[in-house]
Amino acid sequence: MSDKPEKFIDENGLRLDGRQVDEMRPMKMELGVISRADGSCYLEWGKNKVMAAVYGPRELHPRRMQKADSVLIRYRYNMAAFSVEDRIRPGPNRRSIEISKVSREAFEPVVLTHLYPGAVIDVFAEVLQADAGTRTAAINAASMALADAGIPMKGLVAACAVGKVDGQLVLDLNKAEDNFGDADFPMTFTQDGEVSLVQMDGNFTQEEFKQAVEMCKEGCQKILGMQQEALRNKFAGELSTDEVDVELIEEDVVEAESDDVDEGAAEPEEVDEDVEESQDDVEDDSMIKADEPEFEEDEPEDEPESEEDEPEEETA
Ligand code: CDP
Repeated sequence: MSDKPEKFIDENGLRLDGRQVDEMRPMKMELGVISRADGSCYLEWGKNKVMAAVYGPRELHPRRMQKADSVLIRYRYNMAAFSVEDRIRPGPNRRSIEISKVSREAFEPVVLTHLYPGAVIDVFAEVLQADAGTRTAAINAASMALADAGIPMKGLVAACAVGKVDGQLVLDLNKAEDNFGDADFPMTFTQDGEVSLVQMDGNFTQEEFKQAVEMCKEGCQKILGMQQEALRNKFAGELSTDEVDVELIEEDVVEAESDDVDEGAAEPEEVDEDVEESQDDVEDDSMIKADEPEFEEDEPEDEPESEEDEPEEETA
């Protein structure tokens, strides 16, 4: 790991990577990159590279996990072993389980879960390259992948973080600011302006807290604008109208609510009987599921054998 910089903000008020304190790293996103997924998004944010893929709504197996009155959302945040300086041990760990849980909860206010009782929506967020802010990058990508999959939602979700370095609040921390700074405060905002995730590392004064919320809100509004633009670029042609924006998704949602499930909308997929049987025996322990006890243990019980003797993290 590199050493702590002497100063994070220079005499011109610029950060080490040349940004203003309230400036985000450049972001770009591409939809529909995984052809087997129902929806997907590849997102770059500064040096972060994240892939999100959504499968479903599809029938949930084993059946005992089904929810009678709503769809089950499962969210798996995972860092590739090669995504950071020190190799990460493959498989879920305490950090990824926590991030998966809070990220899933960030989508619960927007996904119209009652439309697909008994079904499951699987959200996979894979971090390919990490440079701080990967949970927020993953949420932004997942939000797009869900929209790309046609999942009925009240609106999109956007995420970004504010931190504190040299006594100043800064938007969208880079790795040095995250690792050596005094605070890290990721938040998500829904399109309605509702907060669906707040986490905090470090300390803020009350005044700083208020200011940080405002900075996150502004950052998320910018991201929502970019997300809408990306959706417009992908779907404007298909829907052949210049007026396409997220409001159209909301209209679809209203239709879906009134006509139960319409044919073109994302409908739970039937699962082949053979697959069904084999799936009854298989549960992916790395997925965070609603209504399940979490954090029972630091380590998952059934690690692959080949990993058993590996240290927690090892240098490549
Ligand atoms: O990525 P995010 O800011 O959401 O989470 P974090 O736990 O605050 O981690 C900050 C950064 O530390 C990550 O983005 C990675 O660049 C790095 N990191 C790492 O190098 N090794 C880990 N096991 C975890 C994080």
